[in-house]
Amino acid sequence: MDRGNFGNRFTAIMAMAGSAIGLGNIWRFPYMVGQNGGAAFIIVYLFFALFICIPIFLSESVIGKRSQLSTFGAMEKYAPKGQWKWLGLLTVFTPLIIISYYSVVGGWSIEYLLKSLSFSFTDPQLSRDGHSAIFLDFVSSTWKPILLHTAFMGINAIIVMAGVKKGIEKFTKISTPILFLLVVLIMCYSLTLPGAKAGVIYMLKPDFSKLTGSAMLSAMGQAFFSLSLGVGCILTYASYLKKEESLLHISVLTSVFDLSFALIAGFAIMPAVFAAGIEPGAGPGLIFETLPFIFSTMGLSAPWLSNIVAILFFVTILFAALTSSVSMLETGVAYLVDEKKMSRPAAVGLLFAGCWTLGVFCSLSFSSLADFKILGNSLFDFCDKLTSNFLMSFGSLLFALFAGWKMKRSDVYDELTNGGTLRGSVKMFGVLYFLIRYIAPLAIILIFATNLIL
Ligand code: TRP
Repeated sequence: MDRGNFGNRFTAIMAMAGSAIGLGNIWRFPYMVGQNGGAAFIIVYLFFALFICIPIFLSESVIGKRSQLSTFGAMEKYAPKGQWKWLGLLTVFTPLIIISYYSVVGGWSIEYLLKSLSFSFTDPQLSRDGHSAIFLDFVSSTWKPILLHTAFMGINAIIVMAGVKKGIEKFTKISTPILFLLVVLIMCYSLTLPGAKAGVIYMLKPDFSKLTGSAMLSAMGQAFFSLSLGVGCILTYASYLKKEESLLHISVLTSVFDLSFALIAGFAIMPAVFAAGIEPGAGPGLIFETLPFIFSTMGLSAPWLSNIVAILFFVTILFAALTSSVSMLETGVAYLVDEKKMSRPAAVGLLFAGCWTLGVFCSLSFSSLADFKILGNSLFDFCDKLTSNFLMSFGSLLFALFAGWKMKRSDVYDELTNGGTLRGSVKMFGVLYFLIRYIAPLAIILIFATNLIL
């Protein structure tokens, strides 16, 4: 059966970068940089990206590209007897949990895009608290967020249903470059605001005293989340690569794009936050409470201009979220199509129903289910923490161990170097294999343990 593949290197990288670039780059990275020592944090982040994330990216993509299968099938192929495949199956559920709550936030961004299209951010009288109240009213209003979550999941389903080439590739090869263009435009605007310099300083001033152990661990966790590692997304996308592609090349470029986007987003957001004279914060509050306030205060001198920036901004968020969530849905769909021999529409339909339902409960955790707690967290927060603190590190460890210890060294070599024909990869192989076998797993066990203890 034809599983489909990415047409060329450009579209493959756009799809992978689209998966990597998402809400994580916009709402978490800029804030983490500022909080944890500016340029000092960026250096540590780069270090982790290079020595831990790229090896894991390579592990996942070697497994996917070699087997041309999704997680479960790939593990079954190379370790038919062991328990690996069941662990692999476990990772298939992680992106499905992530998409459920991610899609609720996707729905919120549709609401805010519609608001900006109707020029709702032009009231300079409204305080920051006023904007927060509007946001809280909206998320707790039961039906509307559910309706928009449905719409967001629906768009995902349509794209994934259309297949790898006609759906995912067609969508991401246009939207990922547009995302870059938009965020650069917003950055240019932001940097010209009076008082923007404080934002630049917040992002860049190196402060090594803030580089505590926990700052380093958050850098590593953020790097995993941002590169979509440990849940089989990269593995699945890699299974759609043509045989002649260079995995090293693709992993480095994807990481470079992801990090550049995060930095540009930081220079787009932080100067505006400081220009408005408020404290930066992370999470939904930054995007849906602080930024609308900024858009309306900027509107004092030129309301239409600030509204246009608002429109660009919410389009960026919506598209960044979509290119990521499509990769999560595809991971589950690929499993059902490969292993359960389901048709693509049936697989999409089944997962839509499941993720939609879990998403509805996540959405309700801001209204009628607000009192329902799991280990002290609302369902929404629980899904977020379970996946990003626990399941993703578990999956990354699994993939690194599988590629490093279970697959044959010669297979890994063959796949990374395309049978010894990629000279750069041949030269680097020794180092990369060492990182995959020893350094990446040890580092993950370290984060794992710390996350469990803290
Ligand atoms: N990387 C995306 C972001 O930065 C989110 C994402 C996409 C993701 N696919 C994933 C996160 C798989 C974890 C696992 O927002």
